[in-house]
Amino acid sequence: STGLVTDQLDRPMRDLRISVTDRCNFRCVYCMPKTVFGRDYAFLDREELLSFDEITRIARVAAAHGVEKLRLTGGEPLLRRGIEELVERLAALRTPDGRPLEIALTTNGAALGVKAAALKAAGLTRVTVSLDSLDDTVFQAMNDVRFPVAKVLHGLQVAHEAGLGPIKLNMVVKRGVNDHEVLPMARHFKDTPFTLRFIEYMDVGTSNGWDLAEVVPSAEIVGRIDAELPLEPLGASAPGETATRWRYRDGGGEIGVISSVSQAFCGTCNRARISTEGKLFTCLFASEGHDLRALLRGGIDDAGLAAAMGSIWGARDDRYSEVRATLTPELRAARPKVEMSYIGG
Ligand code: GTP
Ligand code: 5AD
Ligand code: SF4
Ligand code: SF4
Repeated sequence: STGLVTDQLDRPMRDLRISVTDRCNFRCVYCMPKTVFGRDYAFLDREELLSFDEITRIARVAAAHGVEKLRLTGGEPLLRRGIEELVERLAALRTPDGRPLEIALTTNGAALGVKAAALKAAGLTRVTVSLDSLDDTVFQAMNDVRFPVAKVLHGLQVAHEAGLGPIKLNMVVKRGVNDHEVLPMARHFKDTPFTLRFIEYMDVGTSNGWDLAEVVPSAEIVGRIDAELPLEPLGASAPGETATRWRYRDGGGEIGVISSVSQAFCGTCNRARISTEGKLFTCLFASEGHDLRALLRGGIDDAGLAAAMGSIWGARDDRYSEVRATLTPELRAARPKVEMSYIGG
C-alpha cells in the first residue's frame, strides 16, 4: 500500500521531522530547563536510538508516501555521532518521480563552525539556526550554559559561506525575557541573506512552565517592526508552511512570524515526526506515538512498514493548536505531552 496518503482532515504527509538525539549542549529555558534536565536526567541509551539504517528505511518508505522534505532535529542534531554519514544516506533517497528530497537541519549553531563544510559535502540542503538574542547577557541567560552569542554568529557565517542557505534564523520570543531584542534583531538581519523568524513561545511538553502571559503575539511583533521598518505581507511560499512572511517595503528582505498560539496553522499541517527512539508522532503535542522501532526490530519488510505508516497517517485527526484555545488552563495542564527535545521541534 505505497502511494500518497491523506489524513482524516485531508492533509497529505509532506514533511518528515526526525529527532536524531534527545541530548543538547544548551539548556534553553523554554525547552530544556535545568530544573528538569539536570545532571541526573536519564537520556536515552545508545541502543534505544534509531540506527542510521533504521532512520534511512523509515525515510525511504515516507518518500514513497509523498514526503518531499526531511528535517533533522533533536535535541541538538549535530551532537549525534556521524551525522554527516546519515545526511549522505538520506541524500541518496528519491521521490517516486526521481527527485532528491530536501534535507534541512535545525541547530543551535554551536558546532556549525566545525561541521558546516562536511554537512554540505554530505548533501545537506540547508540549515535553520536558533538565535534568541544578539545581546550576550540575554543570550546566555536563555541558553543557560553560558554559551557566547559570538560563537553562534561565527557558525552562522561559516554555514553561509559553505552554501548551506538560504539560512533561516529562529527567535523564540518570551515576554520580559528577550522581547526587547525584537527590533535590534530585525535591524541587524535586514539587508542580509538571513531570514529572521519570530516564534511565539509554545506550551510544548510539560516542563517549561508555559504561561500565556509570556507569549508575544505575532501581530504585536509585526506592529513593532513595521512602525520603524515598514513591512508588507507576502504570500505563502509552500503549502502548510509554519511561517507567515512579511517583506520590508524598501527591498531589505523578508521576515517570518510563526504564530502557533495566536493563529494556529493545523489546517494545512503536513508534518510527521519521528522521535529519537523511533515513534511516529502525528502532532507536536501528541501524548503518544506509534512504535515503528518495534516493527523494524521485529523484522517487518518495507511493504509492511509502508502499510503501517499509511494507516497511522490515514487515521490522523490532530489539531492541537486549534484546540488549545478552547481548553481551560486546568485541562491544558492535565493533558500529557511529550518533550520537544525528544519528539524534535
Ligand atoms: P522551514 O521549512 O524552514 O520553514 O522550517 P520549519 O518552520 O518547518 O521548522 P523549524 O524547525 O525551523 O521550526 C520553526 C518553529 O515552528 C519551531 O518553534 C517549531 O517548533 C515550530 N513548528 C514546526 N512545525 C510545527 C508544527 O507542526 N506545529 C507547531 N505548533 N509548531 C511547529
Ligand atoms: N516554543 C516555541 N519554539 C520552541 N523551540 C524550542 N522550544 C520552543 C517552545 N517552547 C524552537 C527552537 C528551535 C525550534 C526547532 O523550536 O528554538 O529553533
Ligand atoms: Fe537545545 Fe534547541 Fe532545546 Fe535550546 S531549543 S535546549 S538548543 S534543543
Ligand atoms: Fe500540526 Fe499538531 Fe502543530 Fe497543529 S499543533 S500544526 S496538527 S503539529
